[in-house]
Amino acid sequence: MKLVDAGELAPEVLERARAIYEAGFPPHLRSSFDNLLRDHTAVLVDGEPIAVAVLRPLADTGWVFLRYFVAGSRGQGVGTLLWQHVTRAMGEAGHTRMVYDVEDPAERSVDPDEVSVRKRRIGFYLRQGARLLPVREFVPPQGEVVQPMLLMAVDLGGGPTAPIVDADLRAVVEAVYEHRYGLVADDPVVWRTIEVSGLA
Ligand SMILES: CC(C)(COP(=O)(O)OP(=O)(O)OC[C@H]1O[C@@H](n2cnc3c(N)ncnc32)[C@H](O)[C@@H]1OP(=O)(O)O)[C@@H](O)C(=O)NCCC(=O)NCCS
Repeated sequence: MKLVDAGELAPEVLERARAIYEAGFPPHLRSSFDNLLRDHTAVLVDGEPIAVAVLRPLADTGWVFLRYFVAGSRGQGVGTLLWQHVTRAMGEAGHTRMVYDVEDPAERSVDPDEVSVRKRRIGFYLRQGARLLPVREFVPPQGEVVQPMLLMAVDLGGGPTAPIVDADLRAVVEAVYEHRYGLVADDPVVWRTIEVSGLA
């Protein structure tokens, strides 16, 4: 089993990775697969593709943003294997922290099944050692849908992730807004997150 750059896969193998990606996310939450390939798309291959992760370095911060993370099956340990391979590879590439956003189970008007999926997903990440960041009103512009998201992070140095707070936390919020979503620090959306999170 190994993690392979999508660019190294034969076209028919890449199609299998595309199918995993497209099955994992509803259309309003995903970009086109071709758009992903402009980022670092990593495919976990065990004979054939079994999981996909898409990563983007957050400029020169030393941190990397996990844009998509999806297993080709559920509840069989594939997500855990993908997590282990991706965090190891990102650490070896010199990144010190991996950051990403997840849907909020407490979002209004979400049906109970979806609330349960969101909670299980967060539970999965917490078990892997990631932390939920104490950030409020993080509202990245994502295509047509604008919804508040939760931010999570894991440090890649090998030890447990210490709490991420104060100036460090503010830097993470600003880096994600700018380098993932194209909103600079004095954008009102960014500023609101900083203020309501007590980071001003
Ligand atoms: C989240 C995900 C990567 C986990 O991969 P997995 O191979 O199912 O995970 P593992 O078998 O290693 O671990 C099982 C745990 O994964 C989580 N999980 C499993 N199926 C899940 C699902 N359908 N939705 C959300 N989380 C799920 C749960 O925490 C589960 O533990 P539990 O059964 O005690 O609740 C996988 O469910 C997935 O690809 N979901 C769709 C895409 C997605 O939501 N990606 C994350 C976007 S932020």
